[in-house]
Amino acid sequence: MGSSSSPSCLLTGVFLFLSVLVSAFPSVVQAGITRHYKFDVQMANVTRLCSTKSIVTVNGQFPGPRIVAREGDRVAVKVINHVPYNVTIHWHGVRQLRSGWADGPAYVTQCPIPTGRSYVYNFTIVGQRGTLFWHAHISWLRATLYGPIIILPELGVPYPFTKPYREVPVIFGEWWKADTEAIIHQALQTGGGPNVSDAYTINGLPGPLYNCSAKDTFKLKVKPGKTYLLRLINAALNNELFFSIANHTVTVVDVDGVYVKPFDAETLLISPGQTTDVLLHAKPYYPDAMFFMTARPYATGSGTFDNSTVAAVLEYQNPSRSSPAVFTKNLPLHKPTLPAFNDTSFAANFTGRLRSLATTRFPANVPQTVDRRFLFTVGLGTSPCPKNQTCQGPNGTKFSATVNNISFASPTTALLQAHFFGQSRNVYSPDFPVVPLMPFNYTGTPPNNTMVSNGTKLVVLPFNTSVELVMQDTSILGTESHPLHLHGYNFFVVGQGFGNYDPASDPAKFNLVDPAERNTVGVPAGGWVAIRFLADNPGVWFMHCHIEAHMSWGLKMAWLVLDGELPNQKLPPPPSDLPKC
Ligand code: C2O
Repeated sequence: MGSSSSPSCLLTGVFLFLSVLVSAFPSVVQAGITRHYKFDVQMANVTRLCSTKSIVTVNGQFPGPRIVAREGDRVAVKVINHVPYNVTIHWHGVRQLRSGWADGPAYVTQCPIPTGRSYVYNFTIVGQRGTLFWHAHISWLRATLYGPIIILPELGVPYPFTKPYREVPVIFGEWWKADTEAIIHQALQTGGGPNVSDAYTINGLPGPLYNCSAKDTFKLKVKPGKTYLLRLINAALNNELFFSIANHTVTVVDVDGVYVKPFDAETLLISPGQTTDVLLHAKPYYPDAMFFMTARPYATGSGTFDNSTVAAVLEYQNPSRSSPAVFTKNLPLHKPTLPAFNDTSFAANFTGRLRSLATTRFPANVPQTVDRRFLFTVGLGTSPCPKNQTCQGPNGTKFSATVNNISFASPTTALLQAHFFGQSRNVYSPDFPVVPLMPFNYTGTPPNNTMVSNGTKLVVLPFNTSVELVMQDTSILGTESHPLHLHGYNFFVVGQGFGNYDPASDPAKFNLVDPAERNTVGVPAGGWVAIRFLADNPGVWFMHCHIEAHMSWGLKMAWLVLDGELPNQKLPPPPSDLPKC
């Protein structure tokens, strides 16, 4: 990993002490511990591609430190802001059961932590195991502020697959030589697309296919015959990625912190906000070769994108000379072939293979009945250029992005606070449209008027509402795949297809038995996806495209899930150190 992430460093600031938790499963009493972390958010100079810049980091590390916890553990992270930016951290994919105050999206569940202040994020990990990640959730700070969350099974509980010899986080990122805060600020001013990145990274390293970068290559060193668990995380800002390891097939065992029915794949698709655990079975013999592990984008939009390739190296330890470990240089190097950048049928086939385990031990609790149905269009649009300005979006307008043609206007106070203290007036309105207000042929010829409306609107759901949501891509400014992420919940991906969703014929094809359960799903380019979830977690929950450029343009909305009747169905009051704005 980065320059300073030695194991001892990773452990610095981690203190453990015991506490006892009663789990949400009534029949089982779990003993979890509390794991304390200290995140000093501070600037650090980092050099990549022969240029040095000052980036926002946690504890000076890039990528940031890993959070390691077992299922059932409580995690307490004290975040101290030493940088000249407002900061929040989001624990992406953590369900945050009745701990919405710790979720992290700025102006949704909290006001940002100002310079010089701190906030303790406190949450318990319930019913999740695998890999998630944490990242900043304000402006574009997550470009450098991210790190793995590793959730191990409860003590003594095995994985439902071959026990790996070693576990290795493989975190994809995106690197700009320029200051990313300046880039997004400028793009929002001019209305044009933000500058694309200069490189992709694996564990913070761009690898040898970029100029001046050979020394910054991640190396995965393996022993013949052993099995490795790779915890893949897409923390890139704006790009879905294909990933492959030359001459090796991997077994997918977990996505977004939920076990799946294992299947083998030569190439994976991983979208921003998604995590995928795979088993890499090292060859049983010493192969006398090295293998590239590469990633490059799956890109469907009409704009420009960084179409470069990040490479890491898989090296085998030569068993004939095993002590100390020897990794011979100058061996033949094998390279994987990846799908074409716009291979949407690969994407559909790959995601179509994901299935929940759906066993007694790991059931797929798919809502079988639905209380409320929603149809949301997702896609791009335009907003007018302010007078006396020239804009660089389509036809001199500004780029915008919407859900049901509403570009989300970020409030200046936190939605969850406004709700909890009954001060929502002038902050948000509870009237987010259930279906598009002006239906059209979503994937056909786009309407002439591409102008969007703006607002801070929420869907309000009573506690325990069973929700079915169809998300439909539109052809406005071109069809495009959008990885939609829901906070506070996992959902089941019950159906997907191309063209317009047909409420008459498509539901018959839904998988209500073993659909994939996840927190981020790609809305197919020119297609739709249907998800179901049970709204059993009170709070305000953000839902947005995890492509940061689209999120900046407004492709986001929020659900307000009300308290239930029982005491354990209510959101507790905020912690006393919650920042104010
Ligand atoms: Cu990983 Cu709201 O995001």
